[in-house]
Amino acid sequence: MKPQTPPKTYRVKSFGCQMNVYDGERMAELLGEKGIEPAPEGEEADLVVLNTCHIREKAAEKVYSDIGRLKKDDGSKPMIAVAGCVAQAEGEEIMARAPAVSMVVGPQAYHRLPDMLDKAVQGERATDTDMPAIAKFEALPARKKRFPTAFLTVQEGCDKFCTYCVVPYTRGAEISRPFADLVDEAHRLVDSGAREITLLGQNVNAWSGEGPKGHTIGLDGLIRELAKIPDLQRIRYTTSHPNDFTPGLVACHGEVDKLMPYLHLPVQSGSDRVLKAMNRQHTAERYLRLLEDVRAARPDIALSGDFIVGFPGETEAEFEETLSIVDEVRYSQAFSFKYSPRPGTPAATMDDQIAKEVMDDRLQRLQARLNRDQLAFNEASIGKTCDVLVERRGKHPGQWLGKSPWLQSVWFTEEIGGETGIGDMATVDLVEAGPNSIRGARFASTPHHATA
Ligand code: 5AD
Ligand code: SF4
Repeated sequence: MKPQTPPKTYRVKSFGCQMNVYDGERMAELLGEKGIEPAPEGEEADLVVLNTCHIREKAAEKVYSDIGRLKKDDGSKPMIAVAGCVAQAEGEEIMARAPAVSMVVGPQAYHRLPDMLDKAVQGERATDTDMPAIAKFEALPARKKRFPTAFLTVQEGCDKFCTYCVVPYTRGAEISRPFADLVDEAHRLVDSGAREITLLGQNVNAWSGEGPKGHTIGLDGLIRELAKIPDLQRIRYTTSHPNDFTPGLVACHGEVDKLMPYLHLPVQSGSDRVLKAMNRQHTAERYLRLLEDVRAARPDIALSGDFIVGFPGETEAEFEETLSIVDEVRYSQAFSFKYSPRPGTPAATMDDQIAKEVMDDRLQRLQARLNRDQLAFNEASIGKTCDVLVERRGKHPGQWLGKSPWLQSVWFTEEIGGETGIGDMATVDLVEAGPNSIRGARFASTPHHATA
């Protein structure tokens, strides 16, 4: 590769999960430290980072077509870095197949992006898919982003090895970031304006660390400590595995006001046979009892989950058991996917792969029920008054958008020149429900309270 002009502007395109969004932000911060600016909206960038996702569908093909489409006005290509889980899984192949790519960097190595960039400028292509885990966080610059909501990665990797999933291979073994580092990062986020922090991990409730008194604590202990930060008003966490859900975490939902009444707990299937084939290591019953416990601790909790339809060998009767779980739980929102064979995972070579039409039909039926419940949940919220953390302006003058405690999108309008601003906790009456959002009305008599 020829030496290249040092880039002045960058764009990070993140696909997939919230962890990738977090990683993308941190890569942006690293590039910012090097004096490279984000490319203005609608303008081409000198450096494009494709922060890829490998969890479903034709991930690798998508990366190649994205690379193919990247062109500057003069026909030349920007400098390209491929990051994320496709980079981890298929780094060498990408380097071989896509000569336009200068850098391939795995999710545990992106702190070395600036060095790789120096090499790329000199004409040297570089791949780094090492997995040193904690070293990455130590090497990252301090957080500076100003926004009312922020992600904080507390845990990475997964040791569960569900038979359909690539995460244990692309993100590696479970590691927990040290307690003190997390408290520091949370303070910094709050100092720069965050009012809500979502704790992230592929298996976030497996987090453990040495707490302030030297004892081992779990995610519940971490949440209780973070709740002491005065200007932090909301805490959330995602994503959890049922088997790592401790009684302490259940209790936390009832006792820590700042922990929002929302839980994303994937189940994947309602059939015990399928759950076993998936290596989930829990039954449908166990999952349902756990949700019962959480509901007993926090009766208004909004529940969310993930589902896979068409896992190899799934029969119609087994799929109907998934529908039964949905009917029993009544999720406030959920994510559902057609099974997608991931190279290298045990399920990819199992017998009885399900036909596409069968999967399409099952996904449609499942989503019809999930949509029904999401709308019903939103409708049941009408008449309540709640806090909305204001995240952005709407399209129309005086319109604001934010989230309810139950993670519903709420928009409301106030008189022009009203006192609402981004980062405010607005008290809002919920007045009209749609499937994906709720219209609210600003509760007039409540004074402005940015840091209540
Ligand atoms: N096929 C379909 N869905 C998958 N997920 C993970 N791996 C696969 C796969 N191979 C889904 C699961 C998981 C979510 C993040 O993605 O539901 O919880
Ligand atoms: Fe993948 Fe299962 Fe780990 Fe979740 S728990 S990341 S689905 S292996």
